[in-house]
Amino acid sequence: MAATGPAGRPLGHEAGRANPFSSGESSARVLGLSSGKGGVGKSTVTVNLALALAGFGHKVGVLDADVYGFSVPAMLGMSGSPDGSGGAVQPLVAHGVRVMSMGFFVPDPQPVIWRGPMLHKALEQFLSDVDWGDIDFLLVDMPPGTGDVALSMSQYLPASEVYVVTTPQVAAKRVAQRSAYMARKLNLPLRGVIENMSWLSTPGGRLAVFGTGGGPQLAEELGVPLLGQVPLEPGVREGGDTGLPVVVADPGSEAALAFVQIAERVVALGRSRVVRQELRVN
Ligand SMILES: Nc1ncnc2c1ncn2[C@@H]1O[C@H](COP(=O)(O)OP(=O)(O)OP(=O)(O)O)[C@@H](O)[C@H]1O
Ligand SMILES: [Mg+2]
Repeated sequence: MAATGPAGRPLGHEAGRANPFSSGESSARVLGLSSGKGGVGKSTVTVNLALALAGFGHKVGVLDADVYGFSVPAMLGMSGSPDGSGGAVQPLVAHGVRVMSMGFFVPDPQPVIWRGPMLHKALEQFLSDVDWGDIDFLLVDMPPGTGDVALSMSQYLPASEVYVVTTPQVAAKRVAQRSAYMARKLNLPLRGVIENMSWLSTPGGRLAVFGTGGGPQLAEELGVPLLGQVPLEPGVREGGDTGLPVVVADPGSEAALAFVQIAERVVALGRSRVVRQELRVN
């Protein structure tokens, strides 16, 4: 399809500037939220973590790398097109967080029907042609799976830290963990596991809707910390649908507190000391 970027320029065909995240120009920590499995809450975790980090006073950017299945703009209640008239493309801002998504360039509900090379180019432009400014964190919402986008992002973001999102279901964990193995093969630092939809709090106690054990098991197998468990709460889903994530809509809720605690742990982990110099697929 003929998706166009700012000023009607076609997306995916520009010769971009240097990518500040691989050139060393940006000192942002890049956090990739990934999972081999779809629908486990990667996007939900991304937007809530971003808002929690922004709430601590950090400057935060969110890159929606799910080019075909973008959901970040809706989850943050955003619409409109970024302005690129002054040269670099200005990200749109929601709740103080700078955001770039394919969703800003495609009239909803039109699909993005692109082959790999265009996708690759668009992602490159999202990094190099966008004025991310002096952000402290760039959170990357990855599409499900271990395909083209994940490979492109690992190439463009050689210092990306990988966080794996899973549900407690052991069968789901087995699929989710493929993104961890991919990170290993690409020599990207795997920093932690986030379990989502961990339980439903009821007057009778916690109901393990999706079973138990997936998050802790995965963390143990991978030798990384389990950074938190986020309960299944209607408010989390509502926050995503209304564009007001639970961290800001209902900061006292169990889920919001879990997201804030995960954000604190991510900060406490600090920057990864392992920075891959070049892409090498083992
Ligand atoms: N903790 C939660 N409680 C309630 N609903 C949740 C929770 N986490 C996610 N959801 C809902 O589950 C659905 C899937 O979440 P989300 O879109 O974040 O997953 P995803 O892993 O990004 O999916 P995809 O693989 O399609 O990108 C959404 O409707 C979201 O609102
Ligand atoms: Mg998603």
